[in-house]
Amino acid sequence: MTEDRPGPVTANLVLSVDDAVATLRIDRPEKRNALDTATRAELIACLDWAGATPDIRAVVVTGTGGSFAAGADLGEAPGQVDPLAMRAMLRERRVYQAVAECPVPVIAMIDGYCLGGGCELAMAADLRIASENATFGQPEIALAIIPGGGGTQRLPRLVGLGQAMRLILTGDRIDAATALRLGLVEQVVPAGRLETATRDLCDRITRHARPALTLAKQAVRASAELPLQAGLALETELLCLAWTSDESAERLAAFRQKR
Ligand code: COA
Repeated sequence: MTEDRPGPVTANLVLSVDDAVATLRIDRPEKRNALDTATRAELIACLDWAGATPDIRAVVVTGTGGSFAAGADLGEAPGQVDPLAMRAMLRERRVYQAVAECPVPVIAMIDGYCLGGGCELAMAADLRIASENATFGQPEIALAIIPGGGGTQRLPRLVGLGQAMRLILTGDRIDAATALRLGLVEQVVPAGRLETATRDLCDRITRHARPALTLAKQAVRASAELPLQAGLALETELLCLAWTSDESAERLAAFRQKR
């Protein structure tokens, strides 16, 4: 059942809440859901809102009309720009950061084109589930630019240096089966099952306590940035927080009392 709730007002995004899952649908199908400034701002507002809403325990980001997102909106692309002004703009808080900072898992549900900034948005998510119709790529090189939403850093972390180099230097697109084989997505399902399979995945996540989900997300994401000893130390700190939470006490008691 989808509930109507107060959330950010959006024009390019459809926000819906179903039990503990907030779904954000990029809704510019006529532009293959290209990410313009307004859409990116709405994504940030909705991610922040979902993260601040206590009974939401997962966020799904997806697109309408059979595409995830075909990258940055090239119609908005400036011609010659002052590099310092551009750097200042790119240093502002961006959607990729909002995904990382969202306290609950963010799942990219991918159908159709997932290119450029769209692929970078998917890579910034905590999990990626795709339909067999999905197509991935970082085509920026064909425009004589390079990925700028984390693609040069997150792609090698997901698929390894060599495959990332191949995809970024060639600009080639790959299909969902190849993306799965390379580790760019975690799950591929038949086209007609994408929504159901995502719902199943969300159900298996949202049955768990929100504080544990938040701490697990933080700990696992930190592994991409920290040396092993620092990561293990952080894990200990976060486990102590989880272990002393009310939810943990209640679930442990339930186990012991065979409830
Ligand atoms: N920015 C702005 N508009 C985009 C877009 C983008 N990234 N991707 C697609 N569109 C628009 C097209 O301009 C077209 O608009 P129009 O109908 O007003 O002319 C509409 O979406 C449909 O695109 P079209 O190319 O006709 O559809 P298609 O199904 O044949 O091809 C793509 C889809 C995504 C393969 C193709 O549009 C494409 O290569 N887009 C650019 C992808 C890209 O380089 N992204 C990285 C940007 S850094």
